[in-house]
Amino acid sequence: MIRKVCIIGASGKLGRYMVQHALHRGYKVVGVCREKSVGKLDAFKDRIAIIPGATNDREVIKKAVAGCDGVLTVLVPWGVQQYSTGTAQAVLDFAPPRARLIFSCGWHITRDGKDVYTWHMKALVKIFGPLARLLRFADLDDQVEACRRIFANDTRWTVVRGSDLEEGESEGLPVWSRHVGDPILKSNLTRRIDFALFMVEALVNDELVREAPAIVGCRTPSAMAHAPAKY
Ligand SMILES: NC(=O)c1ccc[n+]([C@@H]2O[C@H](COP(=O)([O-])OP(=O)(O)OC[C@H]3O[C@@H](n4cnc5c(N)ncnc54)[C@H](OP(=O)(O)O)[C@@H]3O)[C@@H](O)[C@H]2O)c1
Repeated sequence: MIRKVCIIGASGKLGRYMVQHALHRGYKVVGVCREKSVGKLDAFKDRIAIIPGATNDREVIKKAVAGCDGVLTVLVPWGVQQYSTGTAQAVLDFAPPRARLIFSCGWHITRDGKDVYTWHMKALVKIFGPLARLLRFADLDDQVEACRRIFANDTRWTVVRGSDLEEGESEGLPVWSRHVGDPILKSNLTRRIDFALFMVEALVNDELVREAPAIVGCRTPSAMAHAPAKY
């Protein structure tokens, strides 16, 4: 049963939507964000505990995840100091053993190499990756390494792989598939609020334990065309 959750990267756009969904479900929330971003959580400050600090600071994470039944982590490739890897490793090391661990990333992460990417996406990763590393503002390989460590871990994790994102009101729980390239995912668009909804719902969905679902908005054309019929 989920009573208390930790949201790591709570001040970002995805993080704040997750705070909203978690509070809506009545969970106690502990948020971790960089010191300079604490003000971005002002709307929630009376309802959540905030632990300021870098999300790859092991002491910060150890304190934040203590006693939590679930940990929702926003994995970002920013900087070139293994930020994602440090964050993921700290969560894997310090979260209580039975806790549900949910991590976010993008479709570019592959678990088994069976994802099929469009030339457009391959070109984007090929060009953006080296350029971002050269300019020292992001390191896509760091997010790849973070996920490799999660996939190899025997905790109760889920890695949610987001499509392109857009803002807007919720359309409902996204649909998912194991591999990018599956027809249901073709539309490649999800509302950010629903990405957050999928992350929070995953806390109580044991079918997603040790899965890396790639998600897409439930009202996109590809989801509507290929979603299994409901009875
Ligand atoms: N954007 C997309 O189109 C897209 C597509 C697919 C998947 N995703 C995935 O969705 C998740 C959220 O992405 P998002 O783009 O929507 O961003 P977001 O929710 O706004 O989150 C960005 C996070 O990165 C932190 N951050 C920003 N600059 C940083 C820096 N220099 N060093 C350390 N942390 C920094 C932010 O913290 P502060 O609040 O402190 O700035 C925030 O926690 C990620 O896992 C991403 O891989 C994104």
